[in-house]
Amino acid sequence: MKRILITGGAGFLGSHLCDRFIKEGYHVIAMDNLITGEIRNIEHLYPLSNFEFHHHDVSQFIHIPGELDYILHFASPASPIDYLKIPIQTLKVGSLGIHNCLGLARVKNARVLIASTSEVYGDPTVHPQPEEYWGNVNPVGPRGVYDEAKRFQEAMTMAYHTFHGLETRIVRIFNTYGPRMRLNDGRVLPAFIGQALRGEDLTIFGDGSQTRSFCYVDDLVEGIYRLLLSDYPQPVNIGNPVEITIKEFAEEIIKLTGTNQKVVYKPLPTDDPKQRQPNISKAKAILDWEPKVSREEGLRITYEYFKSLPEEELYKAAYHREFTT
Ligand SMILES: NC(=O)c1ccc[n+]([C@@H]2O[C@H](COP(=O)([O-])OP(=O)(O)OC[C@H]3O[C@@H](n4cnc5c(N)ncnc54)[C@H](O)[C@@H]3O)[C@@H](O)[C@H]2O)c1
Repeated sequence: MKRILITGGAGFLGSHLCDRFIKEGYHVIAMDNLITGEIRNIEHLYPLSNFEFHHHDVSQFIHIPGELDYILHFASPASPIDYLKIPIQTLKVGSLGIHNCLGLARVKNARVLIASTSEVYGDPTVHPQPEEYWGNVNPVGPRGVYDEAKRFQEAMTMAYHTFHGLETRIVRIFNTYGPRMRLNDGRVLPAFIGQALRGEDLTIFGDGSQTRSFCYVDDLVEGIYRLLLSDYPQPVNIGNPVEITIKEFAEEIIKLTGTNQKVVYKPLPTDDPKQRQPNISKAKAILDWEPKVSREEGLRITYEYFKSLPEEELYKAAYHREFTT
């Protein structure tokens, strides 16, 4: 049985990856310090003998007994509300965290795949963004703690690949959504659905002409699975290229939720990207991958998930954990 370590395994994407690798017959070791993750995302896996959960901060030394074939490094605060609240931890998990994972991979002779992000492109001046684009990032702006951590993480991973010959893979993930996102994580999709469920007006930052593209989580997981098993060490974009303006998206959410809320406008935050759309030619050519789930279907499944949550989730403070650096 192949053994895989998934850091950030109790998070939104990490927990879906745990499910997928369990389904593929792997022994899955999820590691998480629960800084933004939720135990309820993985507790259905607890009874399985091929699943383990390690409550651990990956920015500290990692010890895993036994063999390891693969490491997926997904631990990192991922939404602006999280990484602005815990900037130092974000920088540490993107630097010390990946260093620990790469060191472990060398000892175990394991292949590492890291979760990078479309944020490495910053506020892009090239549209859609191909992997060759180097980005337009402000290192000292508020988003720098996340963007630069991810850029450093890519550089460190590539250095281990070229210098130590380690098997590495880099996925640049574009906006992904689905069940197990947190309603209060500040990202646009749960924010709109949460507002609709609470009967509040939907808040658009800026004039709503900025675009985003949303990938359903099952499509992303399929892309990551294929990339891990491929022999391609350079970064690969995985995302859904279907682009929509935030204003149109708000209207879709109002239609989906059957509510009659209005849209209200607030000033655009600093360094908010105006456009986001992946160029997925590489994923198509190398992985024979493209997204399959339409926004209509994905949104319906996600909305049903949010509706099924206990009502108090709707009113949880945007950030409810206490941490020291
Ligand atoms: N969701 C997206 O659209 C998206 C887009 C681009 C990149 N990503 C990347 O994918 C990964 C997962 O994102 P997500 O959306 O699932 O976010 P998430 O917050 O739901 O999951 C992140 C998980 O990492 C854990 N974590 C954070 N720091 C840790 C540490 N030091 N040690 C151990 N665990 C730690 C958190 O507790 C959480 O469970 C992140 O690396 C993120 O940057 C996500």
